[in-house]
Amino acid sequence: MPESRKSVHPQQIRYLMSQNKILLVDDDPRLLKLLSLRLKAANFRVEIASSGQQALGKLDTFLPDLIITDLRMEGMDGLTLFNSVQKKYPSLPVIILTAHGTIPNAVEATHKGVFSYLTKPFDGQQLLLIIKAALEQCYPTTDKNSEAKDPGWRSEIITQNSAMEELLKQTQRVAQNEVSILIQSDSGTGKELLARAVHKASLRHKKPFVPINCAAIPDNLLESELFGHLKGAFTGADSNHTGLIEAADGGTLFLDEIGNMPLEFQAKLLRVLQEGEVRPVGATQSIPVDVRVISATHTDLDAAIQTGTFREDLYYRLNVVMLELPPLSERREDISLLANHFLQQVRKRSKNSVAKSFSPEAMKALMAAPWPGNIRQLINTIEQVAILTVTPIISEAQINKALRGKTGEITPLVDAQSEFERNYLVQILQMTRGNVTLAARLAKRNRTEFYKLLSRHQLEAKVFRHD
Ligand SMILES: Nc1ncnc2c1ncn2[C@@H]1O[C@H](COP(=O)(O)OP(=O)(O)OP(=O)(O)O)[C@@H](O)[C@H]1O
Ligand SMILES: [Mg+2]
Repeated sequence: MPESRKSVHPQQIRYLMSQNKILLVDDDPRLLKLLSLRLKAANFRVEIASSGQQALGKLDTFLPDLIITDLRMEGMDGLTLFNSVQKKYPSLPVIILTAHGTIPNAVEATHKGVFSYLTKPFDGQQLLLIIKAALEQCYPTTDKNSEAKDPGWRSEIITQNSAMEELLKQTQRVAQNEVSILIQSDSGTGKELLARAVHKASLRHKKPFVPINCAAIPDNLLESELFGHLKGAFTGADSNHTGLIEAADGGTLFLDEIGNMPLEFQAKLLRVLQEGEVRPVGATQSIPVDVRVISATHTDLDAAIQTGTFREDLYYRLNVVMLELPPLSERREDISLLANHFLQQVRKRSKNSVAKSFSPEAMKALMAAPWPGNIRQLINTIEQVAILTVTPIISEAQINKALRGKTGEITPLVDAQSEFERNYLVQILQMTRGNVTLAARLAKRNRTEFYKLLSRHQLEAKVFRHD
């Protein structure tokens, strides 16, 4: 523990640490009780576990910010617990409590990545100081003076999934370092959104964020687009052109679809990154540039290195830290949040009346779908359905139809009949401007029957009265 930390006033410690969640693990019930009282008094939310196994069971539901565990316990010991925790939540800090005889084991544990250890008996103040140090180091924004305290950096990323939360914690930690980041995830999982979030959480957030889609720029234009060119450098270069790398000076360069960059250009990019300067096409002098690089790919760059289409040296330069977004099918608890959010967005943008919500069955269908195109596919599906729906509630049949459109499957007969019936009802209500008596007469049904039909399809006659 550095000497300077000892000067922190306990009141300040409390302020910094309020609301943080601690998982306490010890097989001694007395110590568990005592510590838990002490931490609660210091404003923490505390969950206790009397064994390593029990702690692992509570991890995903309690989502602690910190774990304090005894080293020697029956069954799973503290170090084994730490190893399991680290596999799942590599940035979650763990503090170990140790008796005098096991200090060497505790020291060894810190070499393996345990944040710190405390030797029993310890005083409360000492414990609070170590906790403060761990939280400050692992979550830099808990410091009220930190520039990135504003949670706005992640405000556009909607999630309630624990793997995503862990990824965002890791993201926040690396954002303020200058390290290069490679985001390797499937299409439509939110790679660009995450790259923008890194930029917002970084100290460069007031400088430009410049995205470059390497797959969209023709090979022969890459050099002049990225490095710029001087007037007359080649036929058609009738004025000076600032390259995208120079435009990102002081800020962040986002190299999207980096796996598509031609091999020969990879060498030129590597040189720019190593030397920190670019030379525009036709220029004799290089220009110094200061950029932080985030790259993204949906392809496996390791495999590309094996087949010789991606340079290994560039890979190591770009991939100092790798962030991987889970596919949507692995975070199904996010689907309803995202679906409602995207529906509200369509409603805000649209001048016409757009459906207000999903029926419970429609939401079930969304939650069960495979989503190979991830969040981008979810957005497209919702936009398509919302615009085509003339009623306040989106039905399951509409969702299924939109999802089938993607896979080219045949509609089962019951769904086709239901869809026909619904369209028929909508048409007839439009014709009669929501006059149920008239509509029922045209359909040769009595009013009660007709109302039943409407409710089966979640249609409301009054919606058609405005037109
Ligand atoms: N967690 C999220 N919350 C809200 N919107 C999201 C989230 N993740 C992605 N999106 C939205 O989904 C769309 C796709 O995201 P983005 O473009 O970042 O993904 P990508 O992985 O770069 O996709 P592609 O492979 O198609 O380039 C964007 O409109 C983005 O705003
Ligand atoms: Mg993208």
